[in-house]
Amino acid sequence: MKTPTTRSAGTEVQVEKEEERLATVRADYDRIADAYAARLAKELDSKPLDRELLLRFAAAVGQRGVVCDLGCGPGHVACFLCEAGATVFGVDLSPRMLDEARRLNPSIPFYEANMLALNLADGTLAGVAAFYSIVNLSPASLPAAFGEMARVLIPGGLLLLAFHVGDEVVCPRELWGRPVEMEFFFHRPAAIEQLLREAGLGIEEVIEREPYGPEVEHQSRRAYIFARKPGAA
Ligand SMILES: C[S@@+](CC[C@H](N)C(=O)[O-])C[C@H]1O[C@@H](n2cnc3c(N)ncnc32)[C@H](O)[C@@H]1O
Repeated sequence: MKTPTTRSAGTEVQVEKEEERLATVRADYDRIADAYAARLAKELDSKPLDRELLLRFAAAVGQRGVVCDLGCGPGHVACFLCEAGATVFGVDLSPRMLDEARRLNPSIPFYEANMLALNLADGTLAGVAAFYSIVNLSPASLPAAFGEMARVLIPGGLLLLAFHVGDEVVCPRELWGRPVEMEFFFHRPAAIEQLLREAGLGIEEVIEREPYGPEVEHQSRRAYIFARKPGAA
């Protein structure tokens, strides 16, 4: 996409950099999508706390409306929510990840979209589950991502956000034998809470846990935040 010429020179550079970053993330996930699905599509079987929180999320959303698995990857969170009774669809930036999600979960709709500019109307979703989908966003783009999550939720709608805890930026350079260029950003929960509040969401609960075993996941501490859009529940 051509950068609009009405922006100031400095803003144009930032926008171009963000577009380059998104293109890198899309290409990297396209390259690893089949390996990611093969290794992680069943990971919830080994993650009891994640299952418990997703069940709570599904129960809280109930029949109030549609739920989005945002940054869905191979769609296992969408699948779990669907089996828990939610009406769910998935969204991802990577077309090959979406191919995997559709192959593994043929009854669930999956769409290509950028979480920094969702093609969804205001106030349309009862819930957003975003599991590790902010991990490749630059810190500068987090306010836009959280602003979009808040925008598309109905009043009283619920967000469940999961992320890696820490200060580091991990640059693996290869995953499962395939080259990648993208960066993985870890976050302090207090900083994420503050950004969610600034996006207009109320923090309901913050949960942290130590990593499960190395055979299950990357050895990082994990955080989960339930945040709600104010308004009628
Ligand atoms: C670490 S994976 C997490 C996938 C899945 N939610 C899970 O828990 O395994 C991050 C996912 O977010 C997607 N993603 C990254 N940036 C995105 C963006 N700007 N918009 C939509 N999806 C994005 C990636 O394509 C990838 O599938």
